[in-house]
Amino acid sequence: MTKPTAIISGAGIGIGRATALAFARVGYRICVTDILETEGKQVAEEIKAGGGDAYFRKLDVTRSDQVDDVVGEIDKQYGGVDVVVANAGIAHKVPLAQMSDAKWDITVDIDLKGVFRMARAATPRMRERRKGAIVAVSSISGMSYGWAEHVHYSAAKAGVLGLVRGLAAELGGDGIRVNGVAPGFIRTAQSLSEEHSMGEARLVAQAPSIPLRRIGEPDEVADVILFLASDAARYVTGQTLLVDGGLTIKQG
Ligand code: NAI
Repeated sequence: MTKPTAIISGAGIGIGRATALAFARVGYRICVTDILETEGKQVAEEIKAGGGDAYFRKLDVTRSDQVDDVVGEIDKQYGGVDVVVANAGIAHKVPLAQMSDAKWDITVDIDLKGVFRMARAATPRMRERRKGAIVAVSSISGMSYGWAEHVHYSAAKAGVLGLVRGLAAELGGDGIRVNGVAPGFIRTAQSLSEEHSMGEARLVAQAPSIPLRRIGEPDEVADVILFLASDAARYVTGQTLLVDGGLTIKQG
């Protein structure tokens, strides 16, 4: 049997990297993509060193041509993409008074339209094969949490929920499932950024108010992405699953 292929955006670091490692462990061929070339290549090397199958392609999710080329290559070389993980994202802190059209657009272009571009590229071949799974990475900020000075991020991540539902409705008849994850506070470069997010001290200070009493790790999101892409979730589509240690269900 030929190996299934997963393409993951933003897979050089953080949740994307952990997802690449998780899929590799269960036998997927991984197309590691990112704008971070050194980090992305390292992830592919790490997978190969562990006996897995992976390669790196530089891919900026704001570039339809790059997305189409990298996915087209998989279609030709390996028969098609089995799983898309649309993970790439940025979270820039911008107070509303300084929110220019350009700042709004770049976040929405990466965090929302980037997901759409990945799905659009992979689905023609998935439809022909009548199989495939797409998992998009949203956020608690898209699900239920308001994040001040990140309204473009919150709007883009809420958009991902609608995109997931719409795609699931459109593609279900072709055997393609589309789901999302909405991570809470996960220890990555994004959340550790003092400039754009919480930073180490504020992040750690959140732990006592989370029902599971700790900050999440990237592999804990990766495992849920893996589940949603797997046959274990074969009757699940159009859903976005919170992976937040209970943060958003806590009262008081
Ligand atoms: P990260 O900063 O460690 O990783 C983000 C990745 O996206 C990096 O590899 C980066 O190079 C890549 N990226 C950025 N712009 C790109 C572009 N134009 N094209 C291709 N790749 C690009 O952050 P993290 O936390 O691993 O983020 C992964 C996803 O999880 C993002 O969508 C983020 O918004 C989301 N998320 C993270 C949370 C957290 O607490 N860390 C919470 C909720 C959502």
